[in-house]
Amino acid sequence: MIRPTHEAETEDLVAMAEGTGVFKPIEIEALRDLLTYHRDEGHAVGHQAVTLERDGVPVGFAYFAPTVMTDSTWHLYWIFVSKTVQARGLGAELLKFVETEIRSADGRMLLIETSSLPMYEQTRKFYLKQQYEQEAMIRDFYSAGDHQVIFRKLL
Ligand SMILES: CC(C)(COP(=O)(O)OP(=O)(O)OC[C@H]1O[C@@H](n2cnc3c(N)ncnc32)[C@H](O)[C@@H]1OP(=O)(O)O)[C@@H](O)C(=O)NCCC(=O)NCCS
Repeated sequence: MIRPTHEAETEDLVAMAEGTGVFKPIEIEALRDLLTYHRDEGHAVGHQAVTLERDGVPVGFAYFAPTVMTDSTWHLYWIFVSKTVQARGLGAELLKFVETEIRSADGRMLLIETSSLPMYEQTRKFYLKQQYEQEAMIRDFYSAGDHQVIFRKLL
């Protein structure tokens, strides 16, 4: 089941994100802040935070939003699946859900940004397998040698 994220599960989701081993401490803090922002303001401007559950237990999360000053372009800001159940199709299920929600809101395009570092190689393959195209790369965006890779899909 995929459902709106509850405020009470913030710390569980933060722990799940940490457990994936790919996010920096600054990103983990940003996730906590984002969940607070979503509660206070984001949900009112179309931002969506969703939790994927299996047997009543949260095992995945996604956060997506319409991109300001565009005509129906959206961004996926977060997606992760618990380390213990990765590579079993749950990430694909979550991303399909996100796409369906955006289509039903008349979204036209979804952009996803990630890092060029080797530890994100499986993540980049995941987006390619979900029919995203690598649209752009901004060299040294996150830090020297850590480029931003932008994936794009027309919905
Ligand atoms: C990226 C992520 C959301 C994908 O979800 P998932 O449930 O693991 O992926 P799926 O089972 O739906 O798809 C598997 C495919 O994705 C790729 N993949 C991504 N992460 C993988 C992992 N940890 N282990 C194996 N394959 C992985 C592979 O190409 C795999 O295809 P294959 O089985 O043919 O080799 C998840 O692995 C994750 O949370 N990773 C860490 C956090 C992260 O990188 N988030 C995105 C930041 S931009």
